Amino acid sequence: AALFSLCLFSLLTLCLTLCSVSNAAAAPRDLRITDPGLLGSLDVQWEPPPLAPALNECTVKYRFEYRSSGDTDWKVIFTRRLRFRVGFDLSRTAEAKVQTLLQGRCTDGVEVQSDWIHATFHVPLQGRLESKVQNFHCIYHDWEYLTCTWQPGLLTPRGANYGLYYWYDGLDNVVQCDHYIQEQGINVGCVLHNLSQAEYRDLNVCVNGSAAATLLRPLYTTLRLHNLAKPSPPQQLVLVSAAEELLVVWSPPGGRTPASCLEYEVQAAEDAGAAAAAWAFVSTQMETALTISRANQSHVSCVRVRGRTNTFCADQGFWSEWTQDCFSVSTKEDKQLFILIPVILSLSISLIIFMLIGQCKKRSAAGKPQQGSAGC
Ligand SMILES: *[C@@H]1O[C@H](CO)[C@@H](O)[C@H](O)[C@H]1NC(C)=O
Ligand SMILES: *[C@@H]1O[C@H](CO)[C@@H](O)[C@H](O)[C@H]1NC(C)=O
Ligand SMILES: *[C@@H]1O[C@H](CO)[C@@H](O)[C@H](O)[C@H]1NC(C)=O
Repeated sequence: AALFSLCLFSLLTLCLTLCSVSNAAAAPRDLRITDPGLLGSLDVQWEPPPLAPALNECTVKYRFEYRSSGDTDWKVIFTRRLRFRVGFDLSRTAEAKVQTLLQGRCTDGVEVQSDWIHATFHVPLQGRLESKVQNFHCIYHDWEYLTCTWQPGLLTPRGANYGLYYWYDGLDNVVQCDHYIQEQGINVGCVLHNLSQAEYRDLNVCVNGSAAATLLRPLYTTLRLHNLAKPSPPQQLVLVSAAEELLVVWSPPGGRTPASCLEYEVQAAEDAGAAAAAWAFVSTQMETALTISRANQSHVSCVRVRGRTNTFCADQGFWSEWTQDCFSVSTKEDKQLFILIPVILSLSISLIIFMLIGQCKKRSAAGKPQQGSAGC
């Protein structure tokens, strides 16, 4: 009997285990990362778990996460799809993982997660790390054209030259730069026009190169144009000096820069005549007008304004050059005149009075008072 009950117990345990196993979600299969040759956009795909439950019983979803190795955060996507094209930094290892999420009648309404499956990918490394170009910088001028510049790598053989290639969602293939900036016959930069289709998307860029017999390490990067925008300086800066305050008005720069995407910094300086004017921060704002109160007006002699992309349109951007105007000189002269005129006037009036008194005294002394000189 003891044996029988032990048997029963083991059977029960086995059943419980099996039941809970059938409740657990099975992991997806065959996670793969492949490179379609688009300089950073990789295809990630997987197969559904082997034992998919009946559709009317449970919904199968996936939690897909990916990152370039070294990133602290994974990017997370909840999906029912089995394939994604997502952006990675090809100079690092691409990492992806996916798990099944099961929910419905088959799980009594609670969400059940499977184990993760993982995959990694990296492009075959060519050339030595020190041969990669350095100081790669890009600026998106007026939302009209992009300039990127670089310097040759530290360990670059003679006769090396560079090429810049790019791709964004909307182009069929990778495109090479057609307007290089050169220094002593070597490509050290590129100017790209007509990129409006690439705004607010990932623009994948690769700068690679070759020397006679050596391969150079390519540089891969992903640009976001709206974060690289540099507007032209604000236009038509006008200072109006009113009785109570100084009114500063300007216009947004022309060109393709969206006026609603700009913010401005205003600075004022007391002495623009000095070699090093002491510029003091006044305001950062989106409006194109500012009133500086009279208390400060007497000190302000110059005002300058610059613009950049505001936080509603981008995470970051570059400041434009300054636009500057001064008003103080005429105001100071006016003030001096206003002080001088009363002084001169009162001086001359006193002089005239003194002279008249002197004349009257002379006349009375001469004993010949005249009619009509009662004014004395
Ligand atoms: C700009 O690019 C579009 C396609 O994105 C193309 O149709 C158009 O001709 C290009 N314009 C110039 C001036 O290159
Ligand atoms: C540079 O990259 C482009 C785009 O991937 C490729 O077509 C080209 O062959 C590469 N050049 C060298 C020298 O590696
Ligand atoms: C005006 O002066 C006050 C104090 O002197 C200072 O706190 C304020 O920032 C100044 N404002 C401007 C617009 O210069």
